Amino acid sequence: MTQTTTRFPDGFLWGASTAAHQIEGNNVNSDWWRKEHDPAARIQEPSLDACDSYHRWEQDMDLLARLGFTDYRFSVEWARIEPVPGTFSRAEIAHYRRMVEGAQARGLRPMVTLHHFTVPRWFEDLGGWTADGAVELFARYVEGCAPVIAEGVRHVCTINEPNMIAVMAGAARAGDQGFPPAGLPTPDEETTHAVIAAHRAAVEAVRAINSDIQVGWTIANQVYQALPGADEIAAAYRHPREDVFIEAARGDDWIGVQSYTRTEIGAEGPIPAPPDAERTLTQWEYYPAAVGHALRHTAEVIGPDMPLIVTENGIATDDDTRRVDYYTGALSEVASALEDGLNVHGYLAWSALDNYEWGSYKPTFGLIAVDPVTFERTAKPSAVWLGGLGRSRRLPRVTE
Ligand code: BGC
Repeated sequence: MTQTTTRFPDGFLWGASTAAHQIEGNNVNSDWWRKEHDPAARIQEPSLDACDSYHRWEQDMDLLARLGFTDYRFSVEWARIEPVPGTFSRAEIAHYRRMVEGAQARGLRPMVTLHHFTVPRWFEDLGGWTADGAVELFARYVEGCAPVIAEGVRHVCTINEPNMIAVMAGAARAGDQGFPPAGLPTPDEETTHAVIAAHRAAVEAVRAINSDIQVGWTIANQVYQALPGADEIAAAYRHPREDVFIEAARGDDWIGVQSYTRTEIGAEGPIPAPPDAERTLTQWEYYPAAVGHALRHTAEVIGPDMPLIVTENGIATDDDTRRVDYYTGALSEVASALEDGLNVHGYLAWSALDNYEWGSYKPTFGLIAVDPVTFERTAKPSAVWLGGLGRSRRLPRVTE
């Protein structure tokens, strides 16, 4: 095995990602908070204080910048910004504006996600994404975010993993309230249409705020791999879960690629990884090559000109050496995609912190550990290594 390196293209984004609900704590006005406290939802544990990043975001940014990262993707919380329909909190908008400016002051370019899975309770009460007027309500919220993003934000993500939103809606209809296993349940079609319409409206709203902002959305890619003879079944499986959302990014400025593992498809549909396969703390197969497949598939569907940004990629493990192995394998795939001419503009790891993994704190994806009692942050060796690559501006490339 030999290791070479590939230079980052100019302007390449190098960072880590988080989401408000998973790190801020006390997101009490959100649908997820309500769900976490509803016994019928059978959520393992509630998010409570999470990483207390609502108050400690400066520490998070200090650490990321010191580690060598140049970009930070975080989300703003709709439930805080618009606590009741049509009323916008000046204090919360000022809070998120301080985060944008705080990132800039530390040399971190902020990528702002406007929606990462959680909605205000009132939006859920109105019927959520498929309710009459939902698209307009989301667009109004996006317009309300203008003071946060109007200056100094180059990249805005409208909606994180719309395909998982549709899958979760499908699962909820079938009686399962949790975070679905590897995106397997059938997506709810009405939700699919609604989130695509909401995205298109949000893209327009963001461009009206500042036409220099590069706007896009981020798609969960399950890397569906067909076993011999199952090509058509895999394609039929992939289309409503992935491709329709990739296709809906036409006209955007970039698309986010998010991948963790793969899902093999046989004649009967998805088949579990073999019993001897290495599994991570989320029980997903350890498969660092996933990101390479996800990038190539996305480019194939959307075309070669669309800028691709890896907006999430990582592993839930308590063995940090294995995390370095995972990222080494994944970055090698990114390097090879670049060498093959794919239009890759950045790489943001999931996640900056050990955080609330939608129902449980056990699957630790973080580059930085967080003490659940004192909230003290400790950079893991993987964070030092990955952040440090930002300074060398070189991606490791491992070849057999
Ligand atoms: C989501 C994150 C989540 C991660 C790991 C993605 O589906 O955007 O919020 O924590 O994957 O499950």
